[in-house]
Amino acid sequence: MLQLATQLFKLPYSNSGQDLDNSDTTNSYLNQKSSISIPISYLHQMIITLIGFMGSGKSSIGRELADILSWNCIDLDYYIEDMERRSITTIFEKEGEASFRAAESKYLKELLDRHHNLVLALGGGAACQEQNWKLIQQSTSIYLYRSNEDLFQKLNARKAKRPLIANLNDKHLREYIKNSMEIRSPYYSRATYRVHVQPSKVKTAKQISQYLVGSNNR
Ligand code: S3P
Repeated sequence: MLQLATQLFKLPYSNSGQDLDNSDTTNSYLNQKSSISIPISYLHQMIITLIGFMGSGKSSIGRELADILSWNCIDLDYYIEDMERRSITTIFEKEGEASFRAAESKYLKELLDRHHNLVLALGGGAACQEQNWKLIQQSTSIYLYRSNEDLFQKLNARKAKRPLIANLNDKHLREYIKNSMEIRSPYYSRATYRVHVQPSKVKTAKQISQYLVGSNNR
């Protein structure tokens, strides 16, 4: 049966738990929208990190959530590309995955140290590096869950910019998702909250914001 409602679970082993700056239009990693849907004064001095597999909707839901909260949204992958002045694909090709992971940790720390009232969408592997969890625990983390088949459908159409899967055919992509999710799920499950992503990214983002406001008021 189709999962129509977004499910937001507080996980048993949960961790602890800016105003728009429209002057900066030069950085592509900074996604800003101007509309204010819900004035939310309950949440402050917070960073919300969105984690989950490639294709789970971290970037697009992140932008919607930031819009609702009137916060900025930064996509860590775009931030890395802007800071390093080259694409993720080039970093993987020229220096290998280990070098990309080092840059990912460095910029994750930089962003968490320098910002607040921020929605930060992480790359799919960022939450699966043990050393990054010390950093992610400084934030309220949300795991965006999609089934493996859902992920396959999303990713199959958009593989090119993702070096880990760019050259995989259907069969191998399905296998890659299954095997990787087995390894990565335990990491993703460390998040403060888990959301079962529904087809509408707007509804998913609204659900998250309502829950966050609610849980801050309890
Ligand atoms: C990766 C996911 C990508 C990007 C890099 C590695 C991964 O981000 O960080 O290609 O290891 O799952 P998205 O999840 O935004 O595609």
